[in-house]
Amino acid sequence: MANLIRFGVSIEATLLRNFDRFIRERQYENRSEALRDLIREALVEEEWEKDEVIAGGIAFVYDHHHKQLVNKLLDIQHDFHDLVVSSQHVHLDHSNCLEIVIVKGSSVKVGALYHQLKSMKGIKHIDILKTTTGSRLK
Ligand code: NI
Repeated sequence: MANLIRFGVSIEATLLRNFDRFIRERQYENRSEALRDLIREALVEEEWEKDEVIAGGIAFVYDHHHKQLVNKLLDIQHDFHDLVVSSQHVHLDHSNCLEIVIVKGSSVKVGALYHQLKSMKGIKHIDILKTTTGSRLK
């Protein structure tokens, strides 16, 4: 790690006890690593709020027997071709498919893609993974 800087933090004893329990349960080796992770999480959250270029994924499960749904899902993804880096389709069983779309680009546009997919009749479950390109977390 380059340019390590130490700084002091004033914190209430109870809050620190709770933080220590928190980091123990998550198996952090020390407070510094846990704090760095929390800071990175906050910064990634900010990237999404500020419409930065982000990376992420959208995963959804649907029944491919549902009329027209497969074509509509493809049409939507083509409408957002500038965002979609890759997609993977898994046949879970005779009826159910799991598709994971990897995206990179404007967080607002990714949100629009997510909501458009989510609103489709026949989608059984959908979730979004909000992560980062990593370029601002050096
Ligand atoms: Ni399938």
